[in-house]
Parts: sequence; C-alpha cells; structure tokens
Amino acid sequence: MSEEPESLPPPLPRGVLLDGLLLRGDPETRRQFLKKVAGTGVAVTLGPHLIALASTPTADGATPHGATKMVDVQLKINGRDYRLRLDPRTSLLDLLREHLQLTGSKKGCDHGQCGACTVLLNGRRVNSCLTLAVMHDGEEITTIEGLAQGDQLHPMQAAFIEHDGFQCGYCTPGQICSAVACLQEGHAKDDAQIREWMSGNLCRCGAYPNIVDAIKQARDKMGGTA
Ligand code: FES
Ligand code: FES
Repeated sequence: MSEEPESLPPPLPRGVLLDGLLLRGDPETRRQFLKKVAGTGVAVTLGPHLIALASTPTADGATPHGATKMVDVQLKINGRDYRLRLDPRTSLLDLLREHLQLTGSKKGCDHGQCGACTVLLNGRRVNSCLTLAVMHDGEEITTIEGLAQGDQLHPMQAAFIEHDGFQCGYCTPGQICSAVACLQEGHAKDDAQIREWMSGNLCRCGAYPNIVDAIKQARDKMGGTA
C-alpha cells in the first residue's frame, strides 16, 4: 500500500516569493519555487515516499495543462534505484539536473555538439541532452557524481586534478565521463587516438594537452581500462 504524497507547502505571495528567490536567495523559498516549476514535469518515488512533484493527472491520465500523459520509468542512477513518473518529453539531462539535482552533468549547447552533458549509459557514453529519459527504462546510468568510491576519487578524476586538465571546469564532468569510456573502449593507445576519440568533448578553455596527459596517466595506472 503506497503512502499518500507529501503535500506542497501553501503558496507564498508573488512578491515574497520573488524577493526571497532573487534578492535573498533564501533556500526555503528557492525550494518552494523549484517545486512549483518542477511540478509540471515529474514525480519521483524515493524509497517509500512519493515526492509530490507531479502535475495532477486528469481522469484519462493527461496533465491539466496539455495532452501529455505521464510515463512510469525505472532507472538505476549511480547505483541507486529510482521509480519515476515523467513527462515523456523530459531529456535525460533535464531529469538529472532539474529533477534529481544531479547537477554535475552540465548543459552547454543542449544540441549534442559540446559533450558537456556526457554520462555513461550501461557503460557507454551518451550526450544526455540528446536522449529522452523514458527511452531508458531499466537501464543503468553513471554520472560524474557516481564515479568516486566514497572519498576515493576515480583514477581519472585524480589524474585530471594532477595534470590540471581544466581551467573553468565547465566541460570537466563530461570530459571525465567520456575519458572513462574512452579507456574502456580501448581508444587511448596514443595521443592521436585519444584526441580523435575525445573530439566530441569541447573545451573552450583549451585544456586539451593536459586532458590528454591526464587520460594517459589514468590509462597507465589502470592497465589500459577504466
Ligand atoms: S549540452 Fe549536450 S552536447 Fe552540449
Ligand atoms: S575547462 Fe573551461 S571549458 Fe573546459
């Protein structure tokens, strides 16, 4: 028997809400605001609790603001099982960032051109901005948040730090996820191969030489696989 969804807190007056959000950055107000925004798109089941983020469906299952039916999906993300009810138009990247607060994966172009959103899907790299979350029912996703083992960084993360494989860091989560897959694929034999197979991950800061050095170090440390 599932428990009743938590109810949302009563709405704040518009002025108070915007003041809290924009001027004071009050975390409670921000949370309320995000719940209201997120509420148009997703419901999340975490353990026994259904977090009340969903629009209330009408009798035929459509959301009240449109004809879209919510879809149930199960995903394993960073080793944790999630049961989700999603607007089928939700990209995997938006699910991770906007609904599950896994903000390590970055939105650069949102068009599959920069690689900032790269995650591992069943061990293979994908641009999460280009795929819909509902297409991956039952699949396993690893984001940058799932690479470390507790306080122990993944060797690729440690190598990026050691070799200064970043400047602003915006592309770095995608670079590291992609580099982990690049090693697993056996595409890190030399500089030229690394550059070719990492070419889908752009770095506007131009940290490429250090990124290549970091991947080579991780490769040597891990015996050629990640
Ligand atoms: S944000 Fe996905 S490829 Fe640029
Ligand atoms: S470190 Fe700035 S974009 Fe790569």
